[in-house]
Amino acid sequence: MTQPGSPTAFEDLVDHYDAARPAYPAALFAALPDLSGAVLELGAGTGIATRELVKRSGSLVSTDLGPKMLARLHERSPQVPVVVSRAEALPFTDGSFDVVCGAQMWHWVDVPVATPEVLRVLRPGGALAVWWNEVAADGLPWWDAQQDRLEAGNPRYSRTYRARDYRSELTPYFASVEHWTTRWERVLDWPTYERWLRSKSYVQALDDVETFIAAEQQSLGDAFPDGRIVEPFSVTLRIARKP
Ligand SMILES: C[S@@+](CC[C@H](N)C(=O)[O-])C[C@H]1O[C@@H](n2cnc3c(N)ncnc32)[C@H](O)[C@@H]1O
Repeated sequence: MTQPGSPTAFEDLVDHYDAARPAYPAALFAALPDLSGAVLELGAGTGIATRELVKRSGSLVSTDLGPKMLARLHERSPQVPVVVSRAEALPFTDGSFDVVCGAQMWHWVDVPVATPEVLRVLRPGGALAVWWNEVAADGLPWWDAQQDRLEAGNPRYSRTYRARDYRSELTPYFASVEHWTTRWERVLDWPTYERWLRSKSYVQALDDVETFIAAEQQSLGDAFPDGRIVEPFSVTLRIARKP
């Protein structure tokens, strides 16, 4: 699957990313496998999920391919050890983790390479947990118009780019793959929403970012005249267990 942006683009987006990306609801963390043992986080970014994982984990190591993203994570959560590494080449010994997890990142990995790496570092019976926030606004005019603009401005972008069948992808490698989902929403102002847009690798890959941002300001101003932008999300979690 072609990605609509670059996996290293986040390195230049740290401030926008950390300021405006959505967090994950408490129900998601309650649905994760038992975190009381050793936990490895992949693609941890600036640590949005890390800040919740560290409260619940026996021990936690966070990794990402981007040193600038991890530097921000370290500033905010200095108690968490960080290691720059790709999910496809993990610098850890076999069987060293009970849980490997990744928030909003598994769509970036090379699955046939990363999955055996994850299995290698998991102990027998351990679990991979990967999850995503997805804006759940299909049919709302402001959202559909935004997606039209993105698809027109970036030929590599499709509104369905994360809609992969992760269960089928993971099933050949694992003993079982479970699915869990929930919905939530957040309310934010335009300056924060603008930063959220600018934190996306596929927005930065547009032909004309500023024209896109101006159109969004107009469109969201019309849709939310009181300035309180209501953004609905669904969270999808997959838990895959090693035999
Ligand atoms: C959308 S961000 C998610 C960051 C964080 N987990 C969160 O929830 O905010 C995706 C992250 O995955 C990282 N990434 C992309 N490809 C990766 C790979 N192959 N291995 C490890 N990390 C990767 C990027 O550097 C980026 O920090």
